[in-house]
Amino acid sequence: MKPKFRNPSFVNFGKFLAISGLSLLFFYTFFYNPPCNKCCDLSSPVEIKWSNSSKNTVDYPTNISHIKFVLIGSLKTWKQRRPYIEAWWRPNETRGNIFMDSPPSKEFLPWPQTVPPFQLNEDATKLPVYPKLANPIEARIFRSVLDSFRLGDNEDVRWFVMADDDTIFFVDNLVQVLAKYDHTKRYYVGMYSEAVISNFLFSFDMAYGGGGYALSYSLVEELAPLMDDCLERYPFMHTSDHLSSSCLSDLGVGLTVERGIHQIDLLGDISGMLSSHPQSPIVTLHHFDNIDPLFPYKNRIESINHLMKAAEVDQPRLVQQTICYHRPTNWSVSVSWGYSAHIYENIIPRSVLRKPIETFAPWKNGPPPVYMFNTRLPTNDSCQAPHVFFMESVRKIKGNALVLTTYRRKAPRRLRPCFYTGNHSADRISRIRVFSNATVRMEPGSIKCCSVKYMGGMNVVNIKLRDCRKGEVIA
Ligand SMILES: *[C@@H]1O[C@H](CO)[C@@H](O)[C@H](O)[C@H]1NC(C)=O
Ligand SMILES: *[C@@H]1O[C@H](CO)[C@@H](O)[C@H](O)[C@H]1NC(C)=O
Ligand SMILES: *[C@@H]1O[C@H](CO)[C@@H](O)[C@H](O)[C@H]1NC(C)=O
Ligand SMILES: *[C@@H]1O[C@H](CO)[C@@H](O)[C@H](O)[C@H]1NC(C)=O
Ligand SMILES: *[C@@H]1O[C@H](CO)[C@@H](O)[C@H](O)[C@H]1NC(C)=O
Ligand SMILES: *[C@@H]1O[C@H](CO)[C@@H](O)[C@H](O)[C@H]1NC(C)=O
Ligand SMILES: *[C@@H]1O[C@H](CO)[C@@H](O)[C@H](O)[C@H]1NC(C)=O
Repeated sequence: MKPKFRNPSFVNFGKFLAISGLSLLFFYTFFYNPPCNKCCDLSSPVEIKWSNSSKNTVDYPTNISHIKFVLIGSLKTWKQRRPYIEAWWRPNETRGNIFMDSPPSKEFLPWPQTVPPFQLNEDATKLPVYPKLANPIEARIFRSVLDSFRLGDNEDVRWFVMADDDTIFFVDNLVQVLAKYDHTKRYYVGMYSEAVISNFLFSFDMAYGGGGYALSYSLVEELAPLMDDCLERYPFMHTSDHLSSSCLSDLGVGLTVERGIHQIDLLGDISGMLSSHPQSPIVTLHHFDNIDPLFPYKNRIESINHLMKAAEVDQPRLVQQTICYHRPTNWSVSVSWGYSAHIYENIIPRSVLRKPIETFAPWKNGPPPVYMFNTRLPTNDSCQAPHVFFMESVRKIKGNALVLTTYRRKAPRRLRPCFYTGNHSADRISRIRVFSNATVRMEPGSIKCCSVKYMGGMNVVNIKLRDCRKGEVIA
């Protein structure tokens, strides 16, 4: 009867209700008869300890050296997932470990320098609560942050960042995002799932470990000694992420949402989502084994490495959507920088183009609404269906002052031109070239505008990204 979680499967609503009824009962009993346990008196105010390690460094902005990664893998999946980590891990720069369930076999030795140092998780089977756990393997995953904390090499650590072995980070954006928060305070920064039902069944106040989440140092310092008690409190929980969010919630810490973190509880072609990414720096992607390669005509790893080329040149701008219009042809152009570009033969407001086209499918079917965001349905209406282009190349030009990305048509659209906007076909366009200033530190949520340069009859459209004019809505 127990759904196997981690990758949520939602079998039986009645059972869920029964379980949640039980846990509610548990809560009531718990709150009205607090057990006499030194750690579990939830009604007493929480004492905040300030760590010496972070106290002296508040003046420095947060940088990569302040982040300690706690990556969780297993020997079984390592062979397949190692390239995912190698795509973003920076040897001698990124700190942290990959925690596993058993020592590396001969096949994996010597342990390479290109991946995080190996660590064996502490044996959770010895815990008194272990036999009572509904899903024992999750105890190891849950306790990895404790294992990392206990390793002791925590000098100048401001954030512990948890993630899976198939999570991909955009490290510079991660730093930028975490630098917004005061690491000496208690922070739990992450993102809920794209799937409504996952959040409903677990918690809307829960971060997903596959998308990755960050805990400030002082929060981990406080949480670490309480983790095993938390397991005692919630032995019936099926996922480590639910355990973590519940323990943190009991400490009075709620989730701080960062919309660039992606669990990707989606299947198939996620290009619709990445082409209308929310206006936040992209921090992670996940679940690559369950989605199509990000780029056409490339495999999964090639696709990730291709996206990383753009990430290396201008990470804050990566997959940030810019929309502009070309009046002489009545075209709308949407660029997801470093990833894709779309041409519509119609003037469509930004508010519509910001909604992802539902090219993907849900991870698991549930009652509607399925997604945590609005979508547009794919269509063969020639006035609503885009011509689709994907990033082909990225390079710096003009003495590194400008960046040129090019986007190449994926396939012929095979539809008639949109008639009522003037019959201006974009069928002949084979490439879009986008010019932008070299890295600018974009303010989170900032909108950029663009201008379209197009000479009728040409097969290339040029786009220049620029600041918006005051009050600019539709060109
Ligand atoms: C933290 O600093 C205080 C005084 O500055 C010192 O007494 C204490 O031992 C330090 N604690 C650790 C864990 O270094
Ligand atoms: C990061 O900040 C520390 C101060 O905590 C500083 O010593 C170090 O040079 C900085 N590193 C980088 C890469 O900026
Ligand atoms: C990392 O540092 C070690 C020791 O300083 C050095 O031997 C090694 O070559 C470095 N690795 C990389 C990938 O830079
Ligand atoms: C659009 O047309 C193609 C080819 O006829 C068809 O395969 C596809 O299912 C259609 N898509 C939609 C959303 O109707
Ligand atoms: C653009 O489309 C509108 C209808 O939406 C039409 O009235 C206008 O003539 C079109 N402009 C051009 C240049 O085709
Ligand atoms: C619309 O454009 C297509 C070519 O793109 C052309 O074949 C067709 O005759 C045009 N229709 C009208 C009514 O102008
Ligand atoms: C791009 O750089 C030029 C020259 O430095 C500057 O004038 C312009 O404002 C910049 N544009 C944007 C959108 O940042």
